[in-house]
Amino acid sequence: MRKPIIGGNWKMNLGVPSEAVGMLKSMRSMVKNIEDVDIFVAPPFTALESAISIVKKSNIKVAAQNMYFKENGAFTGEISPKFLKNMGIEYVILGHSERRNIFNETDEIVNQKIKIALSMDMFPIVCIGEHLQQREEGKTKEVIAYQMENTFKDIRKEDMIKIIIAYEPIWAIGTGVTATPEQAEEIHSYIRSLLVNRFDEGVANKVRIQYGGSIKPDNAEAIFSKPNIDGGLVGGASLEAKSFYEIIKSAEKIK
Ligand code: PGA
Repeated sequence: MRKPIIGGNWKMNLGVPSEAVGMLKSMRSMVKNIEDVDIFVAPPFTALESAISIVKKSNIKVAAQNMYFKENGAFTGEISPKFLKNMGIEYVILGHSERRNIFNETDEIVNQKIKIALSMDMFPIVCIGEHLQQREEGKTKEVIAYQMENTFKDIRKEDMIKIIIAYEPIWAIGTGVTATPEQAEEIHSYIRSLLVNRFDEGVANKVRIQYGGSIKPDNAEAIFSKPNIDGGLVGGASLEAKSFYEIIKSAEKIK
């Protein structure tokens, strides 16, 4: 019912335009016949323009990795959603755990970013997830519920269905330790139940929830086969065309 969506979060890699172009030229031909999976890549800002020109007329979309929540002003070093929209960017990753942990982004900041993205007709990919210690203390669901409540504060029903949620347990990001498919499914179905409570079944059934955290070609299929997991947000394994393609193929095989 929900179309799987696979995203490649390049983080601070492949930001030299020629590197991004090389990668995307390979990707573009590999995925050209894939119709049942939505695909995006999120290059660094410096490579967005080249990325957009390479994937034009292909089935790959380009996302930004972050943005600020104001259109203009004295915010040295920040990127306005208006600039991104003007380049043709339709997707934006917001609240990635690296933004939250290294750059002190709070749920309130992420909430403001979501609102401005929606007002500009951009699709936010919003990351949530617990720290290892929180999981070990049995607080995962509590943390997720809190993040869901605050990150999506005042978001209306008709906007919620435009948002993609990425559940990314922080202990699984870049560590090589993946959540088991069962661990991931448990939280994905919990997130969906929170959407039922806050909105309704219709909204909960429409919102796509990606899993993220050490997805690799050899574990992707088992994760994507779970009913509440609608694809993935891939870091390390999205930097190389072949491994990213294999992950996309696993999502296609299942749905
Ligand atoms: P990883 O990163 O696949 O390298 O663990 C995922 C992410 O941070 O989105």
